Order: sequence, then structure tokens, then C-alpha cells
Amino acid sequence: MQAEGSYQASTYNLELEAEIQRLKAQVLLNWKKEARTLNWFGLTDGMNVLEAGSGPGFFTEKLLELLPNSSITAVEIDPVLHEKAVGYLQDKGGDRVNRIQASIADTGLEDNTFDFAIARLLFVHLPDPVAAAREIFRILKPGGKLVIIDSDADLFWLTNPPWSVQIVREKFKQVMASRGGDLSIGRNLCRILKQAGFANVDLEAVVSHSDIIGIEAFQPLLDSGPILQMVKQGLISESEIASYLVSRDEFVAAGDRLMMSFWLMACGEKNK
Ligand SMILES: C[S@@+](CC[C@H](N)C(=O)[O-])C[C@H]1O[C@@H](n2cnc3c(N)ncnc32)[C@H](O)[C@@H]1O
Repeated sequence: MQAEGSYQASTYNLELEAEIQRLKAQVLLNWKKEARTLNWFGLTDGMNVLEAGSGPGFFTEKLLELLPNSSITAVEIDPVLHEKAVGYLQDKGGDRVNRIQASIADTGLEDNTFDFAIARLLFVHLPDPVAAAREIFRILKPGGKLVIIDSDADLFWLTNPPWSVQIVREKFKQVMASRGGDLSIGRNLCRILKQAGFANVDLEAVVSHSDIIGIEAFQPLLDSGPILQMVKQGLISESEIASYLVSRDEFVAAGDRLMMSFWLMACGEKNK
């Protein structure tokens, strides 16, 4: 089975290993605050947990550490990333981790199975996010919760000095949309949960600031790799990214630079 939406590691990423390292750094960027917010939404040790769109397994590893008595079922559609996760997690979770290669829109898992589900940086890529949320609703137990972690194109980050990303961001939005994704999904997360049947919907923001975690932690966001790949693939022209790259270099060279990023965590509950 191959992914349908805007994230297809094997198809769209010309440099898969670099992308995998970017995903790893992106997990580390916010982990403490994401874990704190997951706990606040009700995630506790011992729960039977579903992780949707688990990628190469870095977030799964963090969940296994956070929840030493939980079982984690990691659903990943991409065969290459699924295999990477199998290798990476081999000696990490033992029989507490169950890896499944399937679409989150059609998992084949039994009704009413999980206490808690997490989908991180997945819904942004899905052509039919409500269908995916409905499938998760089906396999959650009554009283179970889904937390979707994503961002929104107009919220990604703030920098000083300012980094001019407008043209590239608009282009990125178009490319994502043409592949079935929605880079502005953050603002729609509450509606998606409600349309899928979830109740008690809530939304939190997780903020990371370079004055707290250091500017180096933001390297995955500063990485021009994904944009340069779009140039290689003819999706965006060199002239369109010129101001983005110049302004990025000015930002990187500034001694007193700062950066803050914003991630959204939306939670819904399957009524008892
Ligand atoms: C941006 S990555 C995020 C990976 C991981 N959740 C993380 O936070 O690092 C999105 C992942 O979702 C997977 N994916 C995309 N569509 C999917 C689907 N319909 N069902 C399951 N996984 C899917 C992709 O293959 C990819 O591994």
C-alpha cells in the first residue's frame, strides 16, 4: 500500500535519509511540551495507545519511554518508512509495540480497541481528514480520546530579524493542495474532530522559543532541503525562492537572532 496524500516519503522525497533526520529533529524540538499536553489531555501510563502515521518511529520511541506500561500500535502507510520503524524499534519496545502497515482511513483494526490515539503531522497530508478521524473514532473505546498535532501555514513561526517566507509558503500551500494536503489545517482541526463525531473538543498551542531551547533546536525548520527538492522537481522556480534563501542567510548570520514556533494540539473524546 502506498500513501495517497501530500506526504509520500518514497515518491516525493529525493533525499530520504535527510528527510528522516529532519523528522527526528522535529520530534525532539517540542517533545517535552507535547508530552506535557498529551498528559494534560488525559494520556496516562498503562493505556492502550494508537499512533497514526508513525513514520520512521522516533515519536513512537518517545511514547514508549513516556508510557513504560503501555502498548503502542503504530500505523504507517508507507512501506519504506514502515520498514525503517521496524528496524529502529526492534530493540526498543519489545512486545509493547505493534507496527501495522495500513492506511489510517482503513486500518482493519477492531472496534473499541484503544484508550488514546495520537496523530502527529499526519492530518496536514490527508486528502480526507474527516474519514481518517472517523476511522480512529471507530477503533477508540467509548471515552477514548484522539489528539491531532499539526500546525497552520499562518502560524508556523516568527523570527527576528524577519525571514521573508511569504512567496515560498504560498507555493508550498499550492503544491500540498495539489497532492491532497492542507497546509492551513490547524484552523480546521476542531471542525474535523466534530464532523467525525468527537465531543468535548479542545485546542491547545505548544510554543517553542529559541531563548529557551536554543536556536540550534530549530535547525529542522531552517533546513532548506524540502524547498530545494521542490526546485529540483520543477514545482517552484529558482527565482521564486531567491528572496527566501537570501533572507534565510541573513537570519542565520544575525548574532542576536530569535525564533519561535507554534504547534497546535486538538483533542476530541468519543462519548461513553
Ligand atoms: C510528516 S510524517 C510524520 C511522522 C511522525 N508522526 C512524526 O511526527 O515524526 C507523516 C507520516 O504519515 C504517514 N502517512 C501519510 N498518509 C497516511 C495514511 N493515510 N495512513 C497512515 N499513515 C500515513 C506518512 O507516510 C508519514 O510517515
